[in-house]
Amino acid sequence: MNYIHEIKYERHPNYEGLTNVEQQLVMNAQQAMNKAYAPYSKFKVGAALLLSNGTVVQGNNQENMAYPSGLCAERVALFHAGANHSDAEVVSIVIVAEGDLLKPNEIVSPCGACRQVMLETQRRQTSPYRIVLVGQKGEVLIFHSAEDLLPMAFGS
Ligand code: THU
Repeated sequence: MNYIHEIKYERHPNYEGLTNVEQQLVMNAQQAMNKAYAPYSKFKVGAALLLSNGTVVQGNNQENMAYPSGLCAERVALFHAGANHSDAEVVSIVIVAEGDLLKPNEIVSPCGACRQVMLETQRRQTSPYRIVLVGQKGEVLIFHSAEDLLPMAFGS
């Protein structure tokens, strides 16, 4: 067997592993999650980005009766930043979720399409950004680069 990639991340039992600014971002992500439009899946996701100019961008999943027309929270936030703050870089993204698709001790993990967008966002920047996944019980996973979440990515 060959192994080409190991995923590097930090695991913390609670928010204490986060910087103060990221603790605030968790609240922004939760605020966004509560406003998600997810009447079909009833799975609400929130994302909050901290940009290098200090701006916080919030995104949540936006569903549609024609299912594939909807969009994940992460891409709503990243595309908003790309459209409105194209000269700033992403410093951190915090992602939270709530709903039956997730068992109480599971942590939301971005879908493949969002990872692809997260990676391309990073590759347009001068430095990598932190990806913070927060579980419903407050446990936290921190990735230090979008590269870590998408081994063997298209375009690499
Ligand atoms: N969803 C997100 O917003 N982000 C993810 O990382 C995973 C999935 C959304 C898409 C859809 O609205 C709902 O969650 C159920 O898949």
